[in-house]
Amino acid sequence: MTRVIAISTNKGGVLKTSITTNLAGVYSLEGIKVLIIDTDNQGNAALSFGLNPDNFDMTIYDVLVDGFSPKQAIIEVHKNIDILPCNDNMALFEFDILTKMDQHPKPFTLMQQHLEPIVSEYDVIIIDTPPNLGLTQGNVLSFANEVLIPFQPESYSMRSLVKILNAIDQFKKRYNPELSVLGIVATLVDRRTYLHSQILQECRAYCINLGITLFDTIIPRSVRFASSVAMEGLPATLTDKNNPLVASYFDLAKEMSEYVEKE
Ligand SMILES: Nc1ncnc2c1ncn2[C@@H]1O[C@H](COP(=O)(O)OP(=O)(O)OP(=O)(O)O)[C@@H](O)[C@H]1O
Ligand SMILES: [Mg+2]
Repeated sequence: MTRVIAISTNKGGVLKTSITTNLAGVYSLEGIKVLIIDTDNQGNAALSFGLNPDNFDMTIYDVLVDGFSPKQAIIEVHKNIDILPCNDNMALFEFDILTKMDQHPKPFTLMQQHLEPIVSEYDVIIIDTPPNLGLTQGNVLSFANEVLIPFQPESYSMRSLVKILNAIDQFKKRYNPELSVLGIVATLVDRRTYLHSQILQECRAYCINLGITLFDTIIPRSVRFASSVAMEGLPATLTDKNNPLVASYFDLAKEMSEYVEKE
């Protein structure tokens, strides 16, 4: 069965897009067919593959709002990797749907309605999401079967974590009983920072209490890595094998597959 994994949190800049595109890179190398669904109007998933999101004739917006077939918008960006892209048009999604509720009586299930037919064509679908809990994130949580939550250990991170976990709970109850929390992955970690280790410890205790997986793999902070991603026009897992950070994405993918095998 196809895994549909949302990379979700209401926090910005915590590596949602980096995880989405680098995991896609790992899967592609393993011969696993991936679809990236970008739901963030910044369009960064396509940018990570060197494509300008403003140049797409058709995006996820046209699929969800005007009912075009996803196949008309999906493009192949690399061997085994397709993208259903997103761009600035998606900034209007919430307004356009909520002001036409007569045409869209079930606003949180638009992804379910329009994307279900293509799910079985892929082994894994990874959904990059915007950094908030609005109508778009709600659609993602109604459609995905698993959620991976990036967690940057900073002062207010636990508050955001509680919020996204509550939102997942709500959507599971109302729209998507199959939804489960795949786990939490710590990102942009600097192990030398006392605050980081302290907050990670707090997060671990919280997860144990709720029976949620906090992955052993962490994605460390690295300025060098950040700039190399911006220049290559490909996710690092597809270009820079010798970078120690790339190994952490392979480790994460491995842990994620072990989690499924245990279920
Ligand atoms: N390991 C790393 N260390 C430091 N910076 C990184 C690392 N990996 C990626 N970055 C940079 O951090 C920034 C934020 O990453 P990314 O875009 O993946 O986060 P995001 O959660 O998708 O952000 P947004 O909420 O804006 O969508 C980017 O500029 C990216 O290049
Ligand atoms: Mg992003």
